[in-house]
Amino acid sequence: MKKLIVMLMLIAFAGVGVAIAADNVVYENKKGNVTFDHKTHSETLECSKCHEGTPAKIAIDKASAHKDACKTCHKETSGPTKCNDCHKK
Ligand code: HEC
Ligand code: HEC
Ligand code: HEC
Repeated sequence: MKKLIVMLMLIAFAGVGVAIAADNVVYENKKGNVTFDHKTHSETLECSKCHEGTPAKIAIDKASAHKDACKTCHKETSGPTKCNDCHKK
């Protein structure tokens, strides 16, 4: 019985984790953590601006973040382009 409760709690926690992941994603790194507010971005922009086909997780790394995945659009719109606008210590 105890085991079952623990398992149910773990499942509930996992559910919360996923919900948060789609709202705010924090990319932790030495230069300073970058917070990507998925909620705001997806409310103001069409999903297809970033997602191809059915939206799913996108892997972000340094190269993609500094180009097409993040910065290219910020240059074209009014998003942040300076290092410390994205990287916060
Ligand atoms: C500005 C770019 C951008 C826009 C616009 C956007 N997304 Fe995303 N989305 C991302 C990125 C980047 C990730 C990866 C985040 C991560 O690592 O969890 C992501 C992740 C997701 C995930 C996976 C979440 C997870 O944790 O598995 C879903 C589902 C998703 N987006 C749905 C949507 C939908 C639906 C829309 C439109 C209403 C949308 N997105 C708009 C960039 C965007
Ligand atoms: C398709 C366009 C687009 C893409 C792709 C995009 N952004 Fe943005 N982003 C914007 C715009 C437009 C704003 C300005 C919104 C505003 O000021 O209201 C913004 C604002 C921001 C801000 C500042 C938010 C604030 O609260 O001041 C951060 C940080 C940010 N984006 C990070 C990212 C990261 C990290 C990625 C890639 C994972 C990304 N963005 C991808 C359009 C985009
Ligand atoms: C649009 C937002 C944005 C801007 C502007 C930006 N970065 Fe980044 N940067 C990111 C994201 C997102 C990552 C990926 C982080 C990860 O992989 O965890 C990243 C990764 C990095 C990394 C790799 C860190 C590591 O530990 O691997 C370095 C270094 C870096 N950026 C430096 C800079 C410098 C220097 C500038 C200014 C010239 C800059 N960044 C501008 C969003 C940004």
